[in-house]
Amino acid sequence: MDRIVIRGGNRLVGTIPISGAKNAALPLLIASLLTTDTLTLRNLPRLADVNQLVRILGNHGVEYTIAGKRPGESVDAGQTVRLDAAHVIDTTAPYELVSKMRASFWVIAPLLARMGEARVSLPGGCAIGTRPVDLLLMALERLGASISIDGGYVVAKAPQGLRGAEIEFPKVTVGGTHVALMAASLAHGTTVIRNAAREPEIADLAECLVKMGARISGAGTDVVEIQGVARLGGASHVVLPDRIEAGTYAAAAAMTGGDVLLEGAKPEALGAALDALRAAGATVTVEELGLRVRRDGGEIAPVDVTTAPFPGFATDLQAQFMALMTRAKGRSRITETIFENRFMHVQELARLGARIRLDGDTAVVEGVDKLDGAPVMATDLRASVSLVIAALAARGETTVNRVYHLDRGFERLEAKLCACGADVQRLAA
Ligand code: UD1
Repeated sequence: MDRIVIRGGNRLVGTIPISGAKNAALPLLIASLLTTDTLTLRNLPRLADVNQLVRILGNHGVEYTIAGKRPGESVDAGQTVRLDAAHVIDTTAPYELVSKMRASFWVIAPLLARMGEARVSLPGGCAIGTRPVDLLLMALERLGASISIDGGYVVAKAPQGLRGAEIEFPKVTVGGTHVALMAASLAHGTTVIRNAAREPEIADLAECLVKMGARISGAGTDVVEIQGVARLGGASHVVLPDRIEAGTYAAAAAMTGGDVLLEGAKPEALGAALDALRAAGATVTVEELGLRVRRDGGEIAPVDVTTAPFPGFATDLQAQFMALMTRAKGRSRITETIFENRFMHVQELARLGARIRLDGDTAVVEGVDKLDGAPVMATDLRASVSLVIAALAARGETTVNRVYHLDRGFERLEAKLCACGADVQRLAA
């Protein structure tokens, strides 16, 4: 297994191009199952999770082509993938595939809405809490599906098609909202989703569905209305920039007292994270090409944050912000309200000299004057990148093991950091 070795101490200075958002790419790829026509997606990030999902779609009969790099095109340009689901040959998503990536469970929605049936493995255990699918199934039942569980599989049926309904989520769920949007687009009649997730990736999926012929209003707010249509067609869509990647490099720039232009980053997509970074002492300015984040000389101020659905502070940036707080001048409290057990990075940050105490759903971080490099273990996607941020500011060398977690969600991480002066090296196993 690959490792990366980071020698800390360098300020990050330069430009980092922000890739297409992983969390938008995944539902957009799945939306290809809704139509017999071709869906073209541009600016897809080159990530293990994207490749894995394309393979899963291939299993259902989706044919795909990935455009090669054009002459003169930079490596920063995302991929273009054309997906053609004219012939769905299998409505079963097997355990071996779904267990590797939770979001692949969402294929249940287009398969059910278009083909009238789907058999999808329950996703199974996950490192960051139980992450059930009850609300996704509730939404499909509201739309008229019959749902049963058989040998670890969810069997969903709607032989006469789905019908529009009121869906009120008792808790904000991104996956639930994606599933409801896709399924309702092909249902008979009108669907209203209440307490819908407002994440920018929801609006991006809705925008693509509208290009495919769906009739959706209100996506990006907490009430979304969908008038079902009989069929959807092809479209071409550009994946929006990754706000989590942008927030991660923003935290890294602040951590190292650097000055980085996050090319393509959209400030409105970062929600409360920008306020937290500013409160911590970073200067964030909106420039023509993106967001510039810098921290000059001064100290890192302690800031309390609590994760919340968008536009609140993203749970996917919690670990990265905690890494920044390990060097703050004073005590900060970081409260996780979305996922239980999303503090695996705490023990690993402690290996670098961080002082963090867990108190239920809150991590109490006592800022320290210095961190020291050490071998650490990547545990999940966002946790692992928090170790990279800490290592960039630590004295000496840090080895991050199990970097396949990073490859799931961060495109060309070492290259992007090295281009800004970091000393990061990948060692192949
Ligand atoms: C998505 C993101 C993930 C992010 C999360 C929260 C993708 C591919 N993944 O995950 O990176 O951390 O949103 O912003 O976009 N819940 C239930 N029952 C359900 C579904 C969810 O109780 O049926 C709970 C979850 O356990 C969690 C909360 O709802 O406590 C939010 O989860 P959800 O928004 O659904 O997360 P995902 O869509 O899986």
